Amino acid sequence: MSTLATNTGHPLQSLASFVRKSKERYILVEMRYAIAGAIAAILALSTAPVRADNDLMKRALQDLKPIPSVVPAVKDNAVTHEKVDLGKLLFFDPRLSASEIISCNTCHNLATGGVDAGPTSVGHGWQKGPRRAPTVYNAVFNVAQFWDGRAADLKAQAKGPVQASVEMNATPDHVVKTLSSMPDYVALFKKAFPNEASPVTFDNFAKALEAFEATLITPASKFDQFLEGDGNALNAQEKAGLTLFLDKGCVACHNGINVGGQDYFPFGVVETPGADVLPAADKGRFAVTKTASDEYVFRAAPLRNVALRAPYFHSGQVWSLKQAVGVMGASQLWAKLTDKEEDDIVAFLGTLTGQLPKIEYPVLPVRTNTTPEPSLAK
Ligand code: HEC
Ligand code: HEC
Repeated sequence: MSTLATNTGHPLQSLASFVRKSKERYILVEMRYAIAGAIAAILALSTAPVRADNDLMKRALQDLKPIPSVVPAVKDNAVTHEKVDLGKLLFFDPRLSASEIISCNTCHNLATGGVDAGPTSVGHGWQKGPRRAPTVYNAVFNVAQFWDGRAADLKAQAKGPVQASVEMNATPDHVVKTLSSMPDYVALFKKAFPNEASPVTFDNFAKALEAFEATLITPASKFDQFLEGDGNALNAQEKAGLTLFLDKGCVACHNGINVGGQDYFPFGVVETPGADVLPAADKGRFAVTKTASDEYVFRAAPLRNVALRAPYFHSGQVWSLKQAVGVMGASQLWAKLTDKEEDDIVAFLGTLTGQLPKIEYPVLPVRTNTTPEPSLAK
């Protein structure tokens, strides 16, 4: 019943005042969900609980998908055991940074949800970067990488952080020189790229990292079990939260396997968030496309394991998940969420926490006399 009430409150009239192009595209999508939600709620009124569960599953499956239990294929890069093993060493190896104290795992800590402490990342020489580290878990399911989608895939992405002066502050040459200086690494590259005469390259470094990252998937969450047909996997409050997530139109932007990460939307469709949450200087996707309608447009954040990785948003300024849901309600939706609705949605988001892969901390190849020495200089 309450779902019906909220849906009729969806203010279609505000469409008229709605001018910005990038927003129009999405509001039509959101209206479609609101109408579908109202029809589903009417149909569900007089049916038994099992039937209601099935209907909710069906509705959810229109836009959300379970995480597969097998490692997904990636484009132009066969994921082999040899590449994955090598990529794992690279992920944990701080010697690829200029200071030799920063590895991928420093900012994408696999023990803390694939992110750092926040709010935004701290890299070489304690420099503070402008954005929050997104998680590497399930990143393989995103349509493109970074908050603004500027890297097409994980192998393109992997070349960025080693070179960024505020992150690892190294160069492709430094990486290749470091890896080539250790015979154990050279042997592992030969195994992972068996048909190449000199396999220790920056491209192959990125491919091995991509292969390892493709294994960082987290299946079997309570929500996946529900999508796969177990009506009891979610409790009543979590189901209420899922229903709200569908009816209110969160799913218009947060969809697919990763419950987000599929498309770009303005942050502040209805109401611009405060300057702390949405700093004026970071115009998001505008920097990638140079199109005015892409100002303050960001990739809808993937919500898998979201309960594990406060603080939230690209600015990392919101520490409570409930508050983050409140910000979304106020900035992205027309109907404001009540306190109870926020609690229900937070309960649902908790069911997106999956099984994290067991990762054994690796022993890295030993350095030699020709391995470059660490440099703390700028
Ligand atoms: C100093 C901290 C830092 C280090 C070191 C670092 N990253 Fe990142 N990473 C970030 C930040 C911050 C972003 C988001 C930047 C943006 O969107 O502009 C990011 C984005 C990513 C993404 C995109 C995820 C998504 O959902 O869009 C992936 C994948 C990733 N990093 C992998 C790596 C790998 C692999 C390494 C090691 C080669 C690495 N990172 C090293 C901070 C770091
Ligand atoms: C118009 C599209 C849109 C709608 C509708 C929307 N979101 Fe978002 N959401 C986004 C975008 C874009 C971001 C990334 C914002 C940023 O730049 O930090 C985001 C970020 C989030 C985050 C932060 C995740 C993180 O890792 O930092 C949460 C949580 C979230 N959304 C939940 C929701 C919920 C719950 C709803 C429904 C009440 C909702 N969203 C509705 C587009 C949307």
